[in-house]
Amino acid sequence: MPEIGRLQELIYELEVGEVMTRDVVTVTPQTSMAEFRELLREHAISGTPVLERDELVGVISIEDLIKALAEGKMGDMVGQWMARGAVTLKASEPLVQAVDHFTRYGFGRFPVVDGAGNLVGILTQQDIVKGLLKRLEIEYHEEEIRRYRASHVFEDIDSDRTCILLHYHIAAHDFEHAGESSSKIKRALSRLGMLPSVIRRVAIATYEAEMNVVIHAREGGDISVEIWPDRIAIQVVDTGPGISDIEQAMQPGFSTAPASIRELGFGAGMGLPNIKRCADEMLLESPPGGGTFLQVLIHLNSFETPSEGGVLKKIASSLVA
Ligand SMILES: Nc1ncnc2c1ncn2[C@@H]1O[C@H](COP(=O)(O)OP(=O)(O)OP(=O)(O)O)[C@@H](O)[C@H]1O
Ligand SMILES: [Mg+2]
Repeated sequence: MPEIGRLQELIYELEVGEVMTRDVVTVTPQTSMAEFRELLREHAISGTPVLERDELVGVISIEDLIKALAEGKMGDMVGQWMARGAVTLKASEPLVQAVDHFTRYGFGRFPVVDGAGNLVGILTQQDIVKGLLKRLEIEYHEEEIRRYRASHVFEDIDSDRTCILLHYHIAAHDFEHAGESSSKIKRALSRLGMLPSVIRRVAIATYEAEMNVVIHAREGGDISVEIWPDRIAIQVVDTGPGISDIEQAMQPGFSTAPASIRELGFGAGMGLPNIKRCADEMLLESPPGGGTFLQVLIHLNSFETPSEGGVLKKIASSLVA
């Protein structure tokens, strides 16, 4: 249980001031026991420090109240029942000191003072438990976020440029193995700790692109996925026959798939539109007489809405120039 070990460390790391209750309900020695009872009820607490002209002079608790009640002394003043000369904790002390105080004195609460001795808060065992749990939860949350940042894979690698490359060859018309590359890609991203939403988008885009090569390309093709600290770049290339009218191919519902393919459940004309939906940037090219070139970019650690253009267009135009 690593949590237990971490809890023990936290008792040394956290300071009393970090977990104490800051809004302290106080009474004075002149407060009546009846008023004190109302305060406990109203604030759902079991004791308060007693202040006289801003100076801490004692602590009074529900145990004192019960005794006064038993003796029918609710008209008495707090000053007659409080414990004088309160044992305090310093805000800057580590929690382990407080834990020790609770076991040593058996009190339910300790007033917390600053370096100058001024009352700055109150500490109960409940405050300690709450403080520890809150801190553990924050750490757990941070760890989760860290795990989901793909870039942590690259954290300890020192280089000018680092990326992970996944490459697969896709055989034409091989329906037996169709979809295997994209499921391997999906598994790899999952192993790398990518965000589920990112994995989903990459999985859909690569699956559709892979199926297009299987179905439409004459000689199969290649799919590569580059995982960079800030983005995932997918490239799918084949050697033909290419797409004569890209705008038309991008239309939802447009398909040239023959009946034999449609019988297999493909050919709805939704592959390319689906890819576009998953991409932050998408580039589809098919020079006359050549094959089809598809590039898809998915940004990591960004909440941008997917759009066309941007970096890919710039890269493409610089390649053409
Ligand atoms: N790699 C490719 N090579 C040649 N033509 C392609 C290629 N990819 C897509 N096309 C053309 O673009 C059309 C639309 O593709 P899209 O993926 O949107 O639909 P589909 O593959 O026909 O059907 P679905 O993807 O819904 O099963 C295809 O019918 C085909 O004519
Ligand atoms: Mg398709």
